[in-house]
Amino acid sequence: MRQALALAENGRGFVEPNPMVGAVVLDSGGRLAGEGWHQKFGGPHAEVFALAAAGDRARGGTLVVTLEPCCHHGKTPPCTDAVLSAGIARVGVAMADPFPKVAGGGLAILRAAGVEVQVGVCEADAVALNAPYLKLLRTGRPWVHAKWAMTLDGKIATHIGDSKWISGEESRRRVHELRGRMDAILVGAGTVFADDPLLTARPAGARVPARIVVSASGNLPEACQLRATARDVPVIVYTANAAPLAGWADDGAEVVSTPNFDAVLADLGARRFTNVLIEGGAGLLGSAFDAGAIDEYHVFIAPKLVGGTGPSSLGGVGVSRMADALALVRSTFEPSGADVYIHGFARQ
Ligand SMILES: NC(=O)c1ccc[n+]([C@@H]2O[C@H](COP(=O)([O-])OP(=O)(O)OC[C@H]3O[C@@H](n4cnc5c(N)ncnc54)[C@H](OP(=O)(O)O)[C@@H]3O)[C@@H](O)[C@H]2O)c1
Repeated sequence: MRQALALAENGRGFVEPNPMVGAVVLDSGGRLAGEGWHQKFGGPHAEVFALAAAGDRARGGTLVVTLEPCCHHGKTPPCTDAVLSAGIARVGVAMADPFPKVAGGGLAILRAAGVEVQVGVCEADAVALNAPYLKLLRTGRPWVHAKWAMTLDGKIATHIGDSKWISGEESRRRVHELRGRMDAILVGAGTVFADDPLLTARPAGARVPARIVVSASGNLPEACQLRATARDVPVIVYTANAAPLAGWADDGAEVVSTPNFDAVLADLGARRFTNVLIEGGAGLLGSAFDAGAIDEYHVFIAPKLVGGTGPSSLGGVGVSRMADALALVRSTFEPSGADVYIHGFARQ
């Protein structure tokens, strides 16, 4: 199952809004006969690749798969048919698939056909692997990543709002890699004024993220890179006041009226966006933090000091007592050029 989970990782960024899935086939003597993973959205599932690689050696063998095989006609035929026609005798599954058209149905079909089925192998790892997929199914909201770069004294910009560049080349390369597997990148209006960002992944990654600006007031610059390129790469503006944004719409941006940030997330979820990345600034990150809306943190700390009254990463209200601080779980830290990259999750 560990090998199947590692194979599943290969689909990250390519398969969403589908789950990442990996599969291994062992022959009747327990020897490795085939491997596969779900490679891209709409393409064959992991089991199909692994069974094809195993060929006749699958007969009487074992299929190990990170997610319950599907039993419905979606973009591809049911995997349960492929498993049964290959003559698999045993199936080990990490977790059932809560997708409504599957939801235990795949396991039931296999059991009814006399296949020995074991569920729950490395289940916690499988749940962590597909946390964004599971969150979108459960809540209708995407998995929210937050990223910022800050100085050693905790600033994301100087006192005049300058932020180019805090982190070094290696950290910026990692951010572009992260962008390339997102469905959307979000910034607040203040960042558009201060940094005039382009918010594309360079070099391009597995997906082309939509570029999103959140502005309650609808007050955005008349000229900026996002607006100028809105016909090339999608730009969505979420606002409570669309009136001043007619020019943005004329230039190809989609302007969506939303009362609050949760409505923004609900709309992104309705588009089946699975992973979104908030890149700042302090206002948007702070309000998302206060709302408990951030699932995963990517923080780059540069060994630089700027002092003064520049903003820190999280504006908003914050917690009152240190005992109420959010302690990241499963957090790791590693060098990133001269910077330190800290990665962690808001909850298990
Ligand atoms: N180092 C880094 O990683 C990094 C990254 C990004 C930005 N920055 C820096 O951050 C600074 C900008 O920070 P900032 O706090 O001014 O900018 P910001 O968060 O980008 O923008 C704040 C504005 O975004 C809108 N907004 C935020 N949360 C909202 C919500 N929940 N609902 C509706 N609208 C919301 C509001 O716009 P309206 O006022 O229009 O309603 C608010 O005034 C700049 O100096 C920039 O250089 C640094």
